[in-house]
Amino acid sequence: MVNRLSLLVDLASLLTREVDFDALLTTACERVAEALSAERATIWLVDAEHGDLVSRVALLPELPALRLPLERGIAGWVARTGEPVRIADAATDARFDPSVDKATGYTTRAILAVPIREEGRGPVRGVVQVLNRTPRSGEGSEAFDDDDERYLVALATQIARAFSLTTLRPAEPSSAGLTLRGPFNRIVGRSDELRAVYERVTLAAQTDATVLLRGETGTGKGLFSRAIHVNSGRQAGPFVTVDCTTLPAQLVESELFGHERGAFTGADRRVPGKVEMAQGGTLFLDEIGDLPHDVQGKLLRFLQERTFERVGGRQTLSADVRVVCATHQDLERLVSEGKFREDLYYRIRVVEIEIPPLRARGVTEMEQLANHFADMYAKRYKRPAPELSSEALAVLRAHTWPGNVRELEHWIESAVVLAPDGRIGTAHLPRTRKVVASAGAAAPTAPPTGASAGEGGVAIPLGLTLDEATKRYVAATLDACDGNKAEAARRLEIGRNTIGRMFQRDSDPGAGEDD
Ligand SMILES: Nc1ncnc2c1ncn2[C@@H]1O[C@H](COP(=O)(O)OP(=O)(O)OP(=O)(O)O)[C@@H](O)[C@H]1O
Ligand SMILES: [Mg+2]
Repeated sequence: MVNRLSLLVDLASLLTREVDFDALLTTACERVAEALSAERATIWLVDAEHGDLVSRVALLPELPALRLPLERGIAGWVARTGEPVRIADAATDARFDPSVDKATGYTTRAILAVPIREEGRGPVRGVVQVLNRTPRSGEGSEAFDDDDERYLVALATQIARAFSLTTLRPAEPSSAGLTLRGPFNRIVGRSDELRAVYERVTLAAQTDATVLLRGETGTGKGLFSRAIHVNSGRQAGPFVTVDCTTLPAQLVESELFGHERGAFTGADRRVPGKVEMAQGGTLFLDEIGDLPHDVQGKLLRFLQERTFERVGGRQTLSADVRVVCATHQDLERLVSEGKFREDLYYRIRVVEIEIPPLRARGVTEMEQLANHFADMYAKRYKRPAPELSSEALAVLRAHTWPGNVRELEHWIESAVVLAPDGRIGTAHLPRTRKVVASAGAAAPTAPPTGASAGEGGVAIPLGLTLDEATKRYVAATLDACDGNKAEAARRLEIGRNTIGRMFQRDSDPGAGEDD
């Protein structure tokens, strides 16, 4: 019999990593079924966007995933009422929907289904349902009992709490259901640009092929490198990072491959390298473009043969390691300048994954990320559920994010700290001093990437409606005035209330005037 407590611990630790949700919930289902000696277990999620239940079915191999309207079946009843249901014979209960059994050929008898909600209160996020206990000899009935129910309710509370730490969260804390923000539980984003990344990450994770992650600073290369590891067959092994930038050149080789005692002054004992430490797992070489030239040859050999020597050692060692590299640099240029070995360049880019900059992913995704970070930091700093005012959102939309997701994360983190009542306005955002949208300032030509705030103006991409373009221009002006509406209104020669109304009409009335 599985230790019922260990199941809770397992789930909690899985949820803190960048795992694929399907894999996670499948594991959860398997463990729940085992813990309760049930033949089948299902985790249903309340999909807020579609307004129905979507299943992650573990021990029901006949069907990959199901969608059910909330009006139907036991799970629907539990999701609607928030009450647990325990019945010994499904056929006698009018709420039972036999259509799934019909489709699968499985016969449901005993059912125990409980809502996924925090502390037994609050909106229902989903339903955990187990079917047909398999009694041991001498153990009597196959129906679930009080203990089973108490346990499952406690487990469902844990699941709800754990969800709140992931991207699988409601659109707003008080709203019902969940919004699926992406396939990985720590990575937000559903733009086409990111979908292409997920696809490649998932495919790469299934193999041991060397991966090169490329993208500007702060786009999530570190995050995706870990996602490759935790979704691969090596997830139980170590994930070891070597940051090629922070090491003095002489130390990189020993950091990577280790050294023998006496290899150099100060080497008073043998030290294993990161390659050895990553045995059975994944080695992440961050900022590979900064790898010193003489170590590049040794890395190349390791990638080709998986063999190496420690510094000062003669013994040839080998390690079973999957390598993921990342860089924000133009490797092709480094190759043409002779700074990066061409043969190594081809070796590391077996699978190349380009992570798009934030500005290329669209405004919706930027806002989703902003809300994600707002929720995350509000939880961390014990602030009330945050709300971004429409003016603050307009400032975010007008910004071009040279520092990408990391920059956005920093902005929101500080805003959450500076807005103790949770109402985040423009005054809580950093001052982007680059934008000087003063009247009469010549607008620079727009860079090809779209909306970009340059020196002395704001570039507004073509293709916007006049309304949206106006809004962005006003937002940039407001930004340049450090959120001071009176000053912005003066420069724009419009009334202060016009600015207020402009953003208030947008989406959330009441959140407009908050500075
Ligand atoms: N899609 C995303 N969803 C949620 N958080 C994200 C996402 N992308 C990035 N982040 C967060 O943004 C920060 C920066 O990401 P990360 O460190 O992975 O970027 P990077 O590309 O490695 O940057 P650098 O090149 O500067 O090392 C991290 O805190 C990360 O958790
Ligand atoms: Mg990084």
